[in-house]
Amino acid sequence: MTVRVPAKVNLQLGVGPLREDGYHDLVNVFHAVSLFDEVTAADAARLEVSVQAAPYSRVAVGGVPADGDNLAARAAGLVAARLGVEPRVSLRIRKAIPVAGGMAGGSADAAAALVACARLWDDRDDPVLTREDLMEMGAEIGSDVPFAVLGGTAVGVGRGEQLTSALTRGTFHWVFATADGGLSTPAVYAECDRLRETRGEPAPRPSVSEELMTALATGDAKALGAALTNDLQEAALSLRPSLERVLDAGRDFGAVGALVSGSGPTCAFLAETEEDAAGIADGLDGAGVAAQVLRASGPVPGATLV
Ligand code: C5P
Repeated sequence: MTVRVPAKVNLQLGVGPLREDGYHDLVNVFHAVSLFDEVTAADAARLEVSVQAAPYSRVAVGGVPADGDNLAARAAGLVAARLGVEPRVSLRIRKAIPVAGGMAGGSADAAAALVACARLWDDRDDPVLTREDLMEMGAEIGSDVPFAVLGGTAVGVGRGEQLTSALTRGTFHWVFATADGGLSTPAVYAECDRLRETRGEPAPRPSVSEELMTALATGDAKALGAALTNDLQEAALSLRPSLERVLDAGRDFGAVGALVSGSGPTCAFLAETEEDAAGIADGLDGAGVAAQVLRASGPVPGATLV
């Protein structure tokens, strides 16, 4: 049972106040892009996890736990508990999504494991678990997991897990610049709070950008590029000032939009055309500002059996 699952970039990440449960209220426009991890689930004597870079990818998988702490293992445990079976499964994870890069790679693997294990253990003809059930279970694992099940482009509110699909037209072309060494998501959120506190600035109540929604619905890359926003960007740049140079370089090479992806440190560049994307990727490669330069397009579907 092999499931392919996409990375995400946040087209809008509006960060509201810190809640009592330690999360922030968000307005989060997710967009699934064609960088995929694959998770293969097979019957085994006990729960086993292995993690490797996908054959065509140079992702550094060193920091990813290959045990019960892996989000995919937790997903398998949840599905097993819901279906009343033992989680005797081997999960083979092949990664092409940057690790700790702000592209929800760990959440993607959890989403893939939910779909793969449900297929392995649920009744084929009369399944107990619906796609919505899997998304709800995903929210218990992480805020970004439900979107990795859903895919496409979607607006997330709450802590990002309450999703509504967004209308889009056509395909958008992206370039991603990865960095050596990840950023910790909680650390970036904490830095965002700290910067706001230092300025005596109350946390805003974010709302969905109308410009962004119109740009998506009309397939207007230039307008989309101008509407991209990320409230975590300042915090990510504060923790990793070198990212400013990466963003500048992408703009110089013709990106119509440039921003830190999620909590970073991956930087995302929107190109007006596929040819422009090739030019931006070549430019970034030559400039030597990124660990790796990756091209992708979106939107693409969420976790899918292959
Ligand atoms: O939900 P997930 O485990 O992926 O979130 C990782 C961390 O990101 C949380 O522990 C929290 O520090 C931060 N976060 C947040 N507000 C959200 C989502 C995540 O503060 N809405």
